[in-house]
Amino acid sequence: MVNTSVALSGLVLDNPVIAASGVFGYGREFAELYDINILGSFSIKGTTLLPRFGNPTPRIAETYAGMINSVGLQNPGADKVLEEELPNIAKIFRKPVIANVGGFSAEQYALCAEKLAAAPNVGLIELNISCPNVHGGGMAFGTDPAAAAEVTRAVKAAVSKPVYVKLSPNVTDIAEMAAAVEEAGADGISLINTLLGMRIDLRTRRPVLAAGMGGVSGPAVFPVALRMVYQVYEAVSVPVIGMGGVSSAEDVIEMMLAGATAVEIGAANLTDPFCCRDIVNALPAAMKKYGIENLSDIIGGAHG
Ligand code: SIN
Repeated sequence: MVNTSVALSGLVLDNPVIAASGVFGYGREFAELYDINILGSFSIKGTTLLPRFGNPTPRIAETYAGMINSVGLQNPGADKVLEEELPNIAKIFRKPVIANVGGFSAEQYALCAEKLAAAPNVGLIELNISCPNVHGGGMAFGTDPAAAAEVTRAVKAAVSKPVYVKLSPNVTDIAEMAAAVEEAGADGISLINTLLGMRIDLRTRRPVLAAGMGGVSGPAVFPVALRMVYQVYEAVSVPVIGMGGVSSAEDVIEMMLAGATAVEIGAANLTDPFCCRDIVNALPAAMKKYGIENLSDIIGGAHG
């Protein structure tokens, strides 16, 4: 019998498979399809202090082996998530969830994180300093080490639950960003958010997305994400959650060999709503195939 459990800053997961923020909502729609308690956990849609309507449509464009989104952090705001969504999640998911937190200033991030961390079923905070689709927030913090450190410090001062910082791949030196947030007190790092990209409609000769640009995700970005997880694992000593184009049990194992303790699955849920369930079910056979008894033993195994 293989052991799939992993631990993130004291939070023990039955397996490393986490549905990523923004593709799993609050779990409701997926819970109608299968028992989502099979997952290690899931990360809720990025929540900001105040409600946000999001960006104009179209917000989604297709691309080879992936997609581009520019949702713009649409969400009902921290109070509604705390009072309605998180209690509703507790009715369908017995395990702690990850609260993904967005913002437009260090103070907003801290206030929002403080509210969500008060929910008993929030296991850790995922600080989203990497959304490429909003102005004056998100990625603006995730591309400057000093700003990333400032937000991390503010949130760490406001909450006692573990804080993982979700990094943007749209930087020159991902290791520098990871080191900056670790130094500022981050309990872990999650990466990668989406890569900034665009498509142009040949008939209208205008960008397909109303916002012009958006974040690329899906299988096309997997090697980029894997490389960055590998680099970050070497730069920090806190746990890493890897994500970006993961769509199979083999991808999960590859991410863990690069240095991930747990793995988030994003875009794949949109093409196959059963993919997380199927990956969890496929993990034991994939582990046996590659001679793995304890999944946590392979974390960072690709490093010399
Ligand atoms: C969005 O809401 O625009 C996507 C969230 C993100 O990329 O962090």
